Amino acid sequence: MSSTRTRFAVAAAAALALAIPLAIRNADAATTPTAAAASLTPAQALAAVQANMTSANQVNTKPHINTMTRAQNVNVYQVAPGVYAYTSSMAIDDDGSDPDPDPDHQGETTFQDSNGKQLAAHHVPFYVLGDDCWDRKTPCPHFFYKEHNIKGRQFALMFYNGKVIGSIFGDTQTANNQTTSDNDSRELGEASVKAASLLGIPSSGTTGGVDNGVTVVIFSGSSWVVNGTNANLNANAQAMVQQALDSLGTGPGTPPTTPPTGSTFEAETGALSPGGTFDSNHLGFTGTGFANTANAVGAYVDIPVTAATAGTETLSFRYSDGTTAARPATISVNSTSRGTLNFPITANWDTWATASISVPLTAGTNTIRITSTTAGGDANIDSVTISQ
Ligand code: GCU
Ligand code: CA
Repeated sequence: MSSTRTRFAVAAAAALALAIPLAIRNADAATTPTAAAASLTPAQALAAVQANMTSANQVNTKPHINTMTRAQNVNVYQVAPGVYAYTSSMAIDDDGSDPDPDPDHQGETTFQDSNGKQLAAHHVPFYVLGDDCWDRKTPCPHFFYKEHNIKGRQFALMFYNGKVIGSIFGDTQTANNQTTSDNDSRELGEASVKAASLLGIPSSGTTGGVDNGVTVVIFSGSSWVVNGTNANLNANAQAMVQQALDSLGTGPGTPPTTPPTGSTFEAETGALSPGGTFDSNHLGFTGTGFANTANAVGAYVDIPVTAATAGTETLSFRYSDGTTAARPATISVNSTSRGTLNFPITANWDTWATASISVPLTAGTNTIRITSTTAGGDANIDSVTISQ
């Protein structure tokens, strides 16, 4: 639980940019890691986010408190479906498994790494949200993460002073049932030592921080939860930055591009049936992770692929099955079944093999669905490559 001491200063009002509509491509951020259109630069993405931080898009009905200045002027905006943004301070959270000289240091963070270890504030960039609904109401008049499909290690972009980093939801601001701190769950504007140092903000837990100008853009939904350990969560979060920038849409005046045929399409750009997760806890995957479906008949992963022209193509799935039994699955293209692949076992979950099938594709985007026919679910699926 975050224990940052509070300090007071004059709050700077966040300047908002011109109205540029965000062109997020999917209806729900839960499925937004898609094959993106033209890349947005960090400056374009921030301008587009700020342009959507308008009263019409405000989520909270009561203002949040800037953790550093204590000004009650921080609001949270839904800047695109499933994407939430606020601008506030950065107070420095040094809690968790890294030692820190701060007398307020606590050994625990609200969330843990994928091995169950307390997060390491000096190694993992993480941001802090309120622990509960301060008002004890549903829906919460403040922004309460549990009402917005946001979980521990939820990915966010953090912008400050021309820089952008990837960050995860790591700790919460003191709940309102705690009497030992003058902090409370209405506060926004705190992040870890590592987040500060990556953004060029003084990172001492006692003297560091900045009073304003840090914009946090949270991507909700299970496919934006970052997995990994204290040793690689930072790298895993940074690996998602461009994908997140791109998913905010096409930049002003930049036309969408069509990925070429013959490309590899990462499973993590797709969507999973309930119970599945995009993971990164086994070695050797490409992109930012792989699909791990639920262990059930009918569990599936959808992967969008793009073909320049219609015609028969070979789909080569890169997969891993570290069990002692094959994981057969039917392969469908745009909801039409095209056959079954066996997905034989591999030496372990860190070893990847290829299984291929020929299918007809249409020009443009096709959805490839891999559906388990056995109780084990799908093999772990890393990517699919199209070739003629
Ligand atoms: C393990 C493994 C997962 C895999 C799962 C399964 O939990 O770590 O990556 O998906 O087994 O059996 O499907
Ligand atoms: Ca699985």
